[in-house]
Amino acid sequence: MTDSDELSPRLDALRGDFAPLLLAWQRAEGRHHLPWQNTRDPYRVWLSEIMLQQTQVSTVLGYYQRFLARFPTVRELGAAPADEVMALWAGLGYYSRARNLHRCAQQVCEQHGGEFPRSAELLQTLPGIGRSTAAAIASFCFGERTAILDGNVKRVLSRLLAFEGDLASSAQEKRLWRAAEALLPPAGADMPSYTQGLMDLGAGLCTPRSPQCLLCPVSALCAGRAQGDPTRFPIKTRKLKRGRRENWWLWLEQGGRIWLQQRPSEGVWGGLWTLPLFDDEAALLAQARRLGGGEPEALPRVQHALTHLDWVLHPRRLALAAAHDLAPPGPGQWVARERLADYALPAPLKKLIG
Ligand code: ADE
Repeated sequence: MTDSDELSPRLDALRGDFAPLLLAWQRAEGRHHLPWQNTRDPYRVWLSEIMLQQTQVSTVLGYYQRFLARFPTVRELGAAPADEVMALWAGLGYYSRARNLHRCAQQVCEQHGGEFPRSAELLQTLPGIGRSTAAAIASFCFGERTAILDGNVKRVLSRLLAFEGDLASSAQEKRLWRAAEALLPPAGADMPSYTQGLMDLGAGLCTPRSPQCLLCPVSALCAGRAQGDPTRFPIKTRKLKRGRRENWWLWLEQGGRIWLQQRPSEGVWGGLWTLPLFDDEAALLAQARRLGGGEPEALPRVQHALTHLDWVLHPRRLALAAAHDLAPPGPGQWVARERLADYALPAPLKKLIG
């Protein structure tokens, strides 16, 4: 079906009512005191939006404050060594965000004179800024009349419209983008409140499993609710096939220092520092034997869920004598415990050795 025979009548019925109801609700019930609100500084808004892409607000709060304390402006972030940016990001996950964050700051400095571009269209040309993030920044900072469509907003709008399209298909996703644009308030409206209202509705009421329709400002307009089961939307057929991976982790200590290796910049934990990884226990034990120091201590397994992968890590700890001078496996560094904070460690490793 095309928009003209299916979505258009629904959009026509909603237009005029949806945005004013959402705006009034956001002003009365929405969030107003998050640290990245009440500012129009694109650096702060951009930083928060990148951090919030796959991470919940409660986790982001501390990281956001530490980043701003260390890098108060985009110039300071752009000029920082990549390792320092990664170390401050460590624990937030999805590390390609941190690499793009740094590259984006450098581009803003080198190509835009240290000022973020002032339109969603131009913001999207920067590393790590997709269409929805660009629109969020442009609407929050510059009041641009432009639509967002992140994961939460896809859920809100697909329910509101009882959108039967499969969002695994890019054509259907484009249709939902067009619907998001059709629902925008008229020129001159309070775009920061409208955008925040969509986010607040998705995060607070229109939740994945138990939407609170009784509290929702637009429940009377919601076609998904009218049909009986709003949680049927969004429709997405392609299921992620989760893989499973198992590795053995060699935790070598010598005189208060730990042997760390840096992961390649691409792939899981790209650029982070970890313990040497082995594909099986025999390979780890062979290394341990070569280094002397006896039988490694088996520690409880660590389970780590990545987007596509359940990763099981088996830590084995081995203390080496201080006089020991055999080289540990592969390229790496001995790092004193007191210096660990300067290294970007993945969260499960921080927890293990911290
Ligand atoms: N998630 C993404 N952007 C957000 C924002 N500005 N406020 C709260 N949660 C968000």
